[in-house]
Amino acid sequence: MRRFLLFLLAGLLLAACTPKSEMDRYIDDLMSHMTLEQKIGQLNLHSAPGFISAERVTEDDENMKLLRQGLLGGIYGANNLELMRQCQEIALESGAGIPLLFGLDVIHGHETVFPVPLALSTSWNMDLIERTARIAATEAAATGINWVFSPMVDICRDARWGRIVEGGGEDPYLGGEIARAMVYGYQGRDASIGTDEVLACVKHYALYGGAESGRDYNSVFLSRQEAMNGYMPPYKAAAEAGAASYMSSFNEFEGIPASMNTWLMQDVLRDAWGFNGFIVSDATAIAEEVAHGIGDLQEVSARSLQAGLDMDMNSDGYVGTLKKSLEEGRIREADIDRACRRILEAKYKLGLFKDPFRYFDEDRYAASVYTPENRIAAREAARECLVLLKNNGILPLSKDARVAVVGPLAQDAVAMAGTWAMSSHQEECITLWQGISEVAQASCAEGSWLFEDATLEETVRYGLYKVFIPGFQAPPVHTRPQSALIAEAVAKARQADVVIACMGEIPNMNGEGASRTYIGLPDAQKELLSALQATGKPMVLVLVTGRPLTLVEEDASMDAILNVWSPGSEGGRAVADVLFGDVNPSAKLTTSFPRNVGQLPLYYNHKNTGRPHPDEAPYKKFVSCYMDEVNAPLYPFGYGLSYTSYEYGPVTLSSAEMPLDGSVTASVTVTNTGKRDGDEIVQLYIHDIYATSTRPVKELRGFKKVHIPAGQSVQVDFDLSADDLSYYNHALEWVCEPGDFEIMIGPDSQETKGTVLTVL
Ligand code: NOJ
Repeated sequence: MRRFLLFLLAGLLLAACTPKSEMDRYIDDLMSHMTLEQKIGQLNLHSAPGFISAERVTEDDENMKLLRQGLLGGIYGANNLELMRQCQEIALESGAGIPLLFGLDVIHGHETVFPVPLALSTSWNMDLIERTARIAATEAAATGINWVFSPMVDICRDARWGRIVEGGGEDPYLGGEIARAMVYGYQGRDASIGTDEVLACVKHYALYGGAESGRDYNSVFLSRQEAMNGYMPPYKAAAEAGAASYMSSFNEFEGIPASMNTWLMQDVLRDAWGFNGFIVSDATAIAEEVAHGIGDLQEVSARSLQAGLDMDMNSDGYVGTLKKSLEEGRIREADIDRACRRILEAKYKLGLFKDPFRYFDEDRYAASVYTPENRIAAREAARECLVLLKNNGILPLSKDARVAVVGPLAQDAVAMAGTWAMSSHQEECITLWQGISEVAQASCAEGSWLFEDATLEETVRYGLYKVFIPGFQAPPVHTRPQSALIAEAVAKARQADVVIACMGEIPNMNGEGASRTYIGLPDAQKELLSALQATGKPMVLVLVTGRPLTLVEEDASMDAILNVWSPGSEGGRAVADVLFGDVNPSAKLTTSFPRNVGQLPLYYNHKNTGRPHPDEAPYKKFVSCYMDEVNAPLYPFGYGLSYTSYEYGPVTLSSAEMPLDGSVTASVTVTNTGKRDGDEIVQLYIHDIYATSTRPVKELRGFKKVHIPAGQSVQVDFDLSADDLSYYNHALEWVCEPGDFEIMIGPDSQETKGTVLTVL
């Protein structure tokens, strides 16, 4: 106790003697003039249809009233320069005259749209990922936006969860690298935020991707240790990269909703990782704590604030109840001040106090948004995100071939845009049909419905509009009989040399609120595929999807499968670049593709168990396996084919032993044994053979994407130190435990070669 008091005293003395920064002095002064209501107003974030779609703000708009009373700290979802300028003017005239934050879901591009995040992760190219975030930031910043709700870094091991599309896959190490690259892309690499940069918001903090059974918003049941090792590294990496804000998630963890979870927000994020920005709730997440069963709105609002949640998105819990809680002694004014200060600091760092209109520049908008250069960047990005899952040699196609481009996604521009592309020019995205027909002689047919069930198809296609647009009348679906669609497609296939079947998911089949229990191609599309196959023509399946699908039948029956995800503004052209061989595919999966849904959750970095069973081995009693399916995925993490082939030499170490404070280099020689130049993603995995806690069978701890000309070899080196071999032990300490480690290198998570490193 005496020691603690001494420390406290020393801390207080230090604080008193350290001169305050200019920002602190500015905010001290500002807050000294603010009323309690105005401070609480800063903690309030709203979206409203009026801000998104109205031509101008009307005085009876609910948000307008709040704005005039100085009770809004920010607005999100607005994407209309004139309207936002008007709101900023009102904010400056009202209350304490504090400028607004303008947030938006800029997730994989803005008006120029890049491949969906899961697709981008399959490039394993951090420079590319940073570049896409940088372009998105530049475009958003020229549109009045100063805060983007990205990166989404939730690790996911369950393809049933629709939001798997928004993140970087199942691996925490790769996820961390991606998180860092994206934060740098949005905010820049130094501490200052220029006018081409915006604040990042890391989400969804935390563990949202661990939703039980892949059902969105569901509870998360993980141990702290598994959370820290398997899921938290990307959130941590984002904090290290200087992310300005975090968004708390909808799920509960250890029986406490994340938005009021002190361990997550205070103990880990702030105290252990040193994050000093602000935390906003996800939309209505505070109000949802009532449904979680914690208390009424006043109770949950007070508890969320105390746990460290600074800003309330759309619940009106803070603005509606905090004053009362203060009067009743449930919270302290210091809790409100702390949250308010953090939000004012973000505004200060954005330069909004100096120039509240620095993000409103119509000329910049015209010059830097949706430009031809940005569209070229979108095409370049997409080329690196197309995963070749199967190829019996049919690809690349000859440009002289007559191709039939068929399937419900062949001409769907919106399917190219992907989830979270509402600010993009969705209808202008280059479709698969457009891209292919620019290169080859091609015919086209829709071929089938999306789903056999018309009601489901209508709900999936238009459900979102029904939620947001009152009185929305969905256009009819299934306007032509499936048999007629198929007959037309088959006729076109018969006249072609090769069939390119464009199938899979439209964006509404993945993303938020889009969990599935069946993740194969819908029956209607399978029916088309069988009919096309019956023509005997060579078949290429071009798969549009936002999640891993079960493709056992297609893997057996197709000549080639190219997984193109939702590839963005220039998607169709990038796909044609690969199909016709102008580009050699290099992408590799960042999520395991299951054989059937019963294998989920499925991830390569699983534990061994006490009764392990080889991945591909058939059923056996009393070992950890299934009676009716092997343990292995259909396509493993890290897998992806190319038009060339690579041979990996043995793994060598600069030394077989490494002291705890030392380092070693692991090397491999990779030879391009084919006839085309290629880019290969070389992956390094470790396995801690004996540890004080059980460790995964393999863990990615390094990767390099290298260009290897045909017939040539490249030596790839990885420097390893104790940090690369560390993990959170049972006491949640980050430790490297001396002993033997397998060091494995390979083209994917299954096909690795290894050697042993002893840590002394
Ligand atoms: C809910 C989503 O979970 C989150 O990702 C998004 O940023 C907010 N809505 C705001 O649109």
